Amino acid sequence: TACGADGSDGAGDDGTLTLGFAQVGAESGWRTANTESIQQAAEEAGIDLQFSDAQQKQENQIRSIRSYIQQDVDVIAFSPVVETGWDAVLLEAQRADIPVILTDRAIDSEDDSLYETFLGSDFVEEGRKAGRWLVDNSDGPTNVVELQGTTGAAPAIDRKEGFEEAVSGSSDIEVIATQDGDFTRSGGKEVMEAFLNSHDDIDVVYAHNDDMGLGAIEAIRAAGLEPGEDIRIITVDAVRAGMEALAEGEINFIVECNPLLGEQLMELVEQVAAGEEVTKRIEVEETTFTQEEAEAALPDRQY
Ligand code: AHR
Repeated sequence: TACGADGSDGAGDDGTLTLGFAQVGAESGWRTANTESIQQAAEEAGIDLQFSDAQQKQENQIRSIRSYIQQDVDVIAFSPVVETGWDAVLLEAQRADIPVILTDRAIDSEDDSLYETFLGSDFVEEGRKAGRWLVDNSDGPTNVVELQGTTGAAPAIDRKEGFEEAVSGSSDIEVIATQDGDFTRSGGKEVMEAFLNSHDDIDVVYAHNDDMGLGAIEAIRAAGLEPGEDIRIITVDAVRAGMEALAEGEINFIVECNPLLGEQLMELVEQVAAGEEVTKRIEVEETTFTQEEAEAALPDRQY
């Protein structure tokens, strides 16, 4: 159960729950929308949120989690920057009787008793959706360069795997280069510049998020080419800036990744703090967007 060591139900004297949240960083438009969703939902639910930004460094996240354990918060939630290396700190939380919720990114551990639940996306399926679109919209030899998310991060590993699986049956599609762009616009731009310098036969960019795709657009333009025309671009996320580039024809297809996890997360926080059983894996609903669909969706887009 989620009872504190003192036998209480975890809440403070006035019944207010404290949530310690260790965020990945502020690397992308997606992350900003995710942080805002969490902060707003905590406020609405009357949950005291202790928030930290790890600047995409695992050691910072581990330090924050340790400090939440020290503070004896009621629940810890975090979005692990990479998949591995969490067992020791999560064991410390377990020994302190503090329930842990994973949001957005999952961990790779043999011991699934170290967390109560995971709330987020099916990243492998996102990669498959990107790959399927390319299979359906290509004829003839197609050279792809891949801008990968942060090395070791669940969305980077899974989006690569899903895409490869989906294009594996089509011998015309070949990934000719793949490199880490760290989920940032500047990373995407830098890696794309290097790709353009070493390859003159790039047909498609597959970027693991919108920000890297937007960076690639800058590099493609600087090389005197037309993004969306000379080189087609597929990305993941569907944040406003990505959707605008899609509607304008600079991006060709976006697979949605939903950052609005705040409300569901706060419900889970209340449930695990009360010692209730929760489903071990909760996936959010997501769609995809073509250029026409982006144009239609933009006026109502929340982020
Ligand atoms: O974990 C989700 C990913 O992290 C998003 O796709 C990306 O934009 C973010 O940085």
